[in-house]
Amino acid sequence: MIKCVYPGSFDPVTSGHLDIIERAAAMFDDVTVAVLVNKNKKPAFSAQQRMDFIKRSTTHLKGIQVDSFHGLLVDYMKKRDAQLIIRGLRAISDFEYEFQMAAMNAKLAKDVETVFLMTDISHSFLSSSMVKEIVSHGGDITGLVPEDIKNDVIKYFCR
Ligand code: PNS
Repeated sequence: MIKCVYPGSFDPVTSGHLDIIERAAAMFDDVTVAVLVNKNKKPAFSAQQRMDFIKRSTTHLKGIQVDSFHGLLVDYMKKRDAQLIIRGLRAISDFEYEFQMAAMNAKLAKDVETVFLMTDISHSFLSSSMVKEIVSHGGDITGLVPEDIKNDVIKYFCR
């Protein structure tokens, strides 16, 4: 069975991320959504919260596991015995960074492939940073994040 990992910061998970998770779940039996714990970054949400948001947004899907990792992605792939990295592509602007990352991961681990899934066009403008920006100014994030977590995301910024 092919084991896949969809890695990311997911700070917080957006409707665009969920779209990629749904597409991956339809294609592969074993998909792990892996939240990066990066000590050099200061995320809005803790790794535990980010994982919880993803879990609550994916209860309708089968074969999805949610985990966190730190360090190199290729080392985490090895630990999970996974072969495929899944990444979403929203726009041409994503390509350069994604291309570089895929090439580097391929160099670091010869047996690991990166598969890109196109985000639905309706999410092509969407990012976690944009969600945080909008909600912090009191804007409406309906449809931008999964409905199950929307109120918690709003609550965080209205403390
Ligand atoms: O959601 P993001 O922030 O675009 O995800 C980026 C992520 C987590 C996939 C990437 O930063 C990553 O894999 N980091 C782990 C460290 C690593 O392996 N770096 C080398 C890849 S070139």
